[in-house]
Amino acid sequence: MKEKIEEIKKQAEEEIENIKTAQELQDLKVKILGKKSELSNLLKTLGSLSAEERPKMGALVNEARKELEEKIASVEEKIKENLLAEKLQKETIDITLPSTKIKRGSKHPVNRVIEEIEDLFVSMGYDVVSGPELETDEFCFERLNLPQGHPARDMQDSFYITPEYLLRTQTSAVQARTMLANEEKSPIRMICAGKTYRREDDATHSHQFGQVEGLVIDKKERNVSLADLKGTLEVFVRKLIGKNSELRFRPSYFPFTEPSYEVDVSCFKCGGKGCNLCKQTGWIEVLGSGIVHPNVLKMNGYDPEKYGGFAFGTGLERLAMFKYGIPDMRYLYTNDVRFLTQFDRKDQE
Ligand code: DAH
Repeated sequence: MKEKIEEIKKQAEEEIENIKTAQELQDLKVKILGKKSELSNLLKTLGSLSAEERPKMGALVNEARKELEEKIASVEEKIKENLLAEKLQKETIDITLPSTKIKRGSKHPVNRVIEEIEDLFVSMGYDVVSGPELETDEFCFERLNLPQGHPARDMQDSFYITPEYLLRTQTSAVQARTMLANEEKSPIRMICAGKTYRREDDATHSHQFGQVEGLVIDKKERNVSLADLKGTLEVFVRKLIGKNSELRFRPSYFPFTEPSYEVDVSCFKCGGKGCNLCKQTGWIEVLGSGIVHPNVLKMNGYDPEKYGGFAFGTGLERLAMFKYGIPDMRYLYTNDVRFLTQFDRKDQE
């Protein structure tokens, strides 16, 4: 019987040696150590042995079993190690390869300009306010000294939704809203940037565009004057477009200001000598402005004898074009990422 045990063991050891995969090993384990294995069968025959022989043989079988178990365990360990090594080999990452770039969005130049304007005016004590894009005729025109039938209404072709409601043609509507909402008549210093709409669509105009509006109102004795308006706009234009810009105030007409001015800035391309950008004049028109008209004050709850101030407004696209040297306004509306990402770099210069 002893020889038989040796034989089984030897045979099993050979088979273990030749094992390659975890599955094969599992099968072999059952074959060598399972209930129907030769070793188990041998144990069942112990009864036929003498009382003296029985424990000896029993011990031998168990010893052989234990040795085989250990062998299997060590082969199992080896297979696991090999599997892991193989997996690591397969999943190696070449960190020297260029990565796939994740494209990041970019701020639109018009939004950059809005943020810069808001930061500047907040630093001068202004509030940033907003108003509705769907506006009433009352706030867009009536309360700004533009009654029904006023010829200046023709300057702004409007999108009327109903006879009462329209898409606002100018952020000036927010002037009236701000004054009317200020029941305590505390000083107003506000800036408002937003979308405006007009019924025009050609190479240089879009039906939707951006404007920014400023309004300052204070008691008469505080004497908010044309000098303050000039100083404010000078800071504004120089900060946004160029610190060497010169400003020129040209008398003009707006229904909500009196006197009214259009403000030109010296051409930043040619420095005022004359070029194609400024149409050889040396100047580029950038702003509308003036001293708030007494009628506007009156209609929006302010006594023109006691209060006064100035207002200004301008188009955001033009400012963005001047600031970044964008040659065609239509670039601003095409949402081409290649165009938009340029300004990340330009703002860092
Ligand atoms: N709202 C005017 C426009 O759209 C611009 C403007 C002119 C605004 C004079 C003002 C101002 O506040 O005082 O053409």
